Amino acid sequence: MKEQALLRRSWKLWWQRVRERTVLRRPLAHIYHLIGGHIYFQTLSAAVQLDLFTLLGRRGPLTRADIAGELKLAEQPARILLLGLATCGLLRRKNGTYTATPLADQLFNRDRPRNVADVVLWQHFINYRALAHFHEALLANRNTGLAEFPGDEPTLYQRLAHNPALEKIFQDAMEAISRQSNHLLAEAVAFGQFRRLLDVGGGNATNILRLAQRHPQLKADVFDFPSVCAIARERIRAAGLADRLGAVEGHCFQDEFPAGVDGILFCHFLTIWSPEQNQALLCKAHRALAPGGAVLIFNQMQHDTEDGPLSAAMGSPYFLTLATGVGMLYTWNEYEQWLRAAGFTRVLRRALVRDHGVLIGLK
Ligand SMILES: C[S@@+](CC[C@H](N)C(=O)[O-])C[C@H]1O[C@@H](n2cnc3c(N)ncnc32)[C@H](O)[C@@H]1O
Repeated sequence: MKEQALLRRSWKLWWQRVRERTVLRRPLAHIYHLIGGHIYFQTLSAAVQLDLFTLLGRRGPLTRADIAGELKLAEQPARILLLGLATCGLLRRKNGTYTATPLADQLFNRDRPRNVADVVLWQHFINYRALAHFHEALLANRNTGLAEFPGDEPTLYQRLAHNPALEKIFQDAMEAISRQSNHLLAEAVAFGQFRRLLDVGGGNATNILRLAQRHPQLKADVFDFPSVCAIARERIRAAGLADRLGAVEGHCFQDEFPAGVDGILFCHFLTIWSPEQNQALLCKAHRALAPGGAVLIFNQMQHDTEDGPLSAAMGSPYFLTLATGVGMLYTWNEYEQWLRAAGFTRVLRRALVRDHGVLIGLK
């Protein structure tokens, strides 16, 4: 065999390589993300579980050997992990050392105030296996992914009450999602005008805590299941706000909303339920409020053109497959129609950040 003649020049090869490095580069990367999404996610999830981004934030830049030593990983697994993270754009490699990219540092370093490390843990420990049932859920039109959690209740929220560790992971993640924009909700709405708010499905009180810190006159209560109210009360007590904030145990479809509130807040709550259930909840809120009262809806919004954003497209399968089997991220217009049908005569809208927005219906 002649070595010089073994490799041939090929215009076809040259042209294909040029195309893959230019016009096809982004579309091909996108397809890789789709086909290997589970691997990309597990790469990120492993880094978050190992708390690598916090380590790099405190001690970086670090070499591969330093990182392996700190994380107690053998050399080959450390190499595989760092290759994945650098290739995904989460780490930067320079002169043999690694640092987190600025966005990865902001989002996954636990020392950063609006990090979403807990959202990654929620995706890993609660959603990941359940979402493998998506195809089945589409065909059955119900939350077949709930089979991953013991119990016979129809929603994830009720089944989490059996497992305090998972319930904490869930509530911490909700808090991290809310934290992305609830500080701007507190800016955008004059909560000082309300005497007492009811935060339906208020979880660990993350939203009323933020609102009460910004508006010193505001009084508010979470309305949620007993196991969640216990977490909320503890958070409220730790924040020293028990004189203004509280938690009321209840089931939003079985119990009336408490009297004497002039604002009813639904934070990341109407995404859980079907259009008919949302209509019923907004009618119930209208009945509970005195004239002049208001209902507020705060969550990620789908564009009225029904073509995004990504958060709406990626979030909706979770509600069908796992949470309740009936919810999704609805459009601004749908919320507005339900508010008007419930009797709210004036409806206001304000877009916030991270695809969140707030709608206010005035009675
Ligand atoms: C998606 S989380 C939102 C938590 C919080 N509002 C936030 O924005 O971070 C939904 C909350 O609704 C509560 N929930 C679910 N079903 C409920 C029901 N039927 N009645 C009252 N609360 C409920 C859950 O326990 C959970 O805390």
